[in-house]
Amino acid sequence: MTMWRPPERIRHDAGSGRWPTAAEAAASQLFQEITLGNVRLAQRTWIPAMVPWRASPEGFVTQNVLDWYGRFAAGRPGAIVVEATGIRDVPSGPLLRIGDDRHLPGLAEIVRVVREASGGQTRIFIQLIDFLTIRRRPERTQYLRRYLPITARHRAHLGLLGAPESSVREALEALDEEGLRAALTDREFESLQMGYRERVTDLDSPQVRDLPQTLPGLFAAAAARAGKAGFDGIELHYAHAYTMASFLSPTNTRTDDYGGDRDARVRLPLEVYAAVRAAVGTSMAVGCRMLAEECIEGGGRIDDAAWFAKRFAQAGMDFISLSRGGKFDDAATPKVGEAAYPYTGPSGYECMPSYYSDARGPFGRNLAASARIRSGLRDSGFATPVVSAGGIHNFEQAEGVLARGEADLVGIARQALADPDWFRKVRSGRGAEVRLCRYTNYCEALDQRHREVTCELWDRLGLEEGNTPRSSDGRRRLVAPRWPNA
Ligand SMILES: Cc1cc2nc3c(=O)[nH]c(=O)nc-3n(C[C@H](O)[C@H](O)[C@H](O)COP(=O)(O)O)c2cc1C
Ligand code: SF4
Repeated sequence: MTMWRPPERIRHDAGSGRWPTAAEAAASQLFQEITLGNVRLAQRTWIPAMVPWRASPEGFVTQNVLDWYGRFAAGRPGAIVVEATGIRDVPSGPLLRIGDDRHLPGLAEIVRVVREASGGQTRIFIQLIDFLTIRRRPERTQYLRRYLPITARHRAHLGLLGAPESSVREALEALDEEGLRAALTDREFESLQMGYRERVTDLDSPQVRDLPQTLPGLFAAAAARAGKAGFDGIELHYAHAYTMASFLSPTNTRTDDYGGDRDARVRLPLEVYAAVRAAVGTSMAVGCRMLAEECIEGGGRIDDAAWFAKRFAQAGMDFISLSRGGKFDDAATPKVGEAAYPYTGPSGYECMPSYYSDARGPFGRNLAASARIRSGLRDSGFATPVVSAGGIHNFEQAEGVLARGEADLVGIARQALADPDWFRKVRSGRGAEVRLCRYTNYCEALDQRHREVTCELWDRLGLEEGNTPRSSDGRRRLVAPRWPNA
């Protein structure tokens, strides 16, 4: 599956800008403290959630997971958000999970490792996620012979009202593409082309209908576990292609008071937040990651996000982290046997923009929207800190974000992967030693294939040393080499 790129294909290279001296860094806004609820961060830097595909097949923390977070912590950012972690106690492949107490010891180890590696300087948050069912794209024959439920509509369309089911299936199989498109509903045709994907609007499915009853409890129990494991904060995943973002989206046309107008769409996200807060109290910071813009046709826009952000602030969230795009709605068609991936279409580009871009380029694409959402909050009297991310890689950019009031904290994801020591280097006046991200999305391509995420700038370095943990294919080191000058 390839990732979509703007057709202009204008190449943008990351630049170092002017790095600050240690004294300039000390005086900068970026390296001042900030408080989220009752949690104090030593600086206004934030490593957003990144799934590295290192959990065990049962969703447990492994040594590789610990190494990943320990390596980021050694760079001493203000906060690290642990990757999207599943709140349900159901098999989810190698996705980290927090759906049962048996996951607690491993998660507590992440907290311990981060505190130790950062000398207690870095706060550790965890992103809690719920997602709906998605299946791989089926083979045409299999789909028509086995998976597709035959309905009266198919029979009527084919003029086979009394015929046995097998005849209906054979008739469908004999159709060409056009014929099939006409014989199937849009949703059935989509399931054939893209693989079946559940929607929050599938009210005929009991588990989808009951999400407003089940999710607050599931999120609250997961949050309570995060508290027991010692995390400083919770980031509710209300962004990208997942359940909660789907509730917020204008595409949510549920007819049960949880869809339709904004008040109805924000209802479950508010109920989830209330349940989580009740479970963890105010010692932990609780906020959400949400979309400044969905970047799809008919999707949520800045004015929606600004409105939701105010409701979240009013409800008492301690921070709001803004991302953009990353939807299934415009995802690329997967190969047969593979599942659709939400970062392969134009909205996916907005989420993780790469270096071939349009005139706007990949750096700071979310900042204009963030600025508007943040000023909306301030105009309504809310001081809630806002995090923004997307293509930030040098000090001047980061400081500019704060100076212009586009955000209160600067999210740095891929640049932190390219060089986890970015924060220490810049803070100590040694920014010239930073390994700059190239925004090629090599890392993202690995993520897409659920392979251990590494960075092309360092994953082949020092392999001959032999004692470095490697990827399962043995070809790549799993964490960045140590900074010799640390
Ligand atoms: C490998 C990889 C995994 C990611 N996983 C998550 C995730 O679990 N949750 C999330 O909200 N965003 C995830 N993202 C998106 C990042 O948090 C971030 O928003 C995005 O990369 C843009 O920021 P950047 O330009 O600083 O990298 C991921 C990004 C990458 C590259
Ligand atoms: S692989 Fe490394 S250089 Fe390339 S986009 Fe990812 S973090 Fe940046």
